[in-house]
Amino acid sequence: DAAFTIAIDGPAAAGKGTISKAVAAHFGFRHLDTGLLYRAVGAQVLLGMEPLQAAQRLSADMLEGSNLRSPEVAQSASRVAVIPEVRAALLDFQRSFARRAGGAVLDGRDIGTVICPDAEAKIFVTASADVRARRRFDELVGAGAAISFEQVLADVLERDARDRDRAEAPLKPAADAVTIDTSTLDIEAAVAAAIRAIKDRR
Ligand code: C5P
Repeated sequence: DAAFTIAIDGPAAAGKGTISKAVAAHFGFRHLDTGLLYRAVGAQVLLGMEPLQAAQRLSADMLEGSNLRSPEVAQSASRVAVIPEVRAALLDFQRSFARRAGGAVLDGRDIGTVICPDAEAKIFVTASADVRARRRFDELVGAGAAISFEQVLADVLERDARDRDRAEAPLKPAADAVTIDTSTLDIEAAVAAAIRAIKDRR
């Protein structure tokens, strides 16, 4: 497993995070949620920093900000993610994480297409917009947020459109990715499908 890399991409709230953590635990691999990098930059921009400067100065403690999961930070993340220089500034960190010995799972939007095009296994996790918004809504309400389902759905759709339509590293399945639609799968079934797809490549 010198540098076995698993790339997991997909739209917001499709289940990438949950699947990635379970897959990493199953294979004993390290896991990087690359969305956190963009969220950390987005959070700094909301505080007034220039996007490129925030990306260049990204540090470990910025990845632990407690508000990184908020919808405002998610929107800001997807706005900075459109900027090619911001994406370039975050590239090396992601590639070195993937290359370190022991195997790695990276999840995001462009892992299989741009960051790790040679990944040994690629999975595209998707689900209907309604199901994804429902999951994100339950998560946010569970965390005590005062927000409506309609607002969450509008947020998810806006972010997906921005991620798909951007010129640089748009959200799309790699040609050699296995797609898993989690609309009607529970967590166990989705994780099992991902592990099967990866085992086929090992
Ligand atoms: O995955 P998450 O929802 O945390 O990502 C937040 C935003 O960061 C996404 O909407 C997307 O714009 C951006 N992102 C990206 N490329 C990645 C991961 C996240 O552009 N690899």
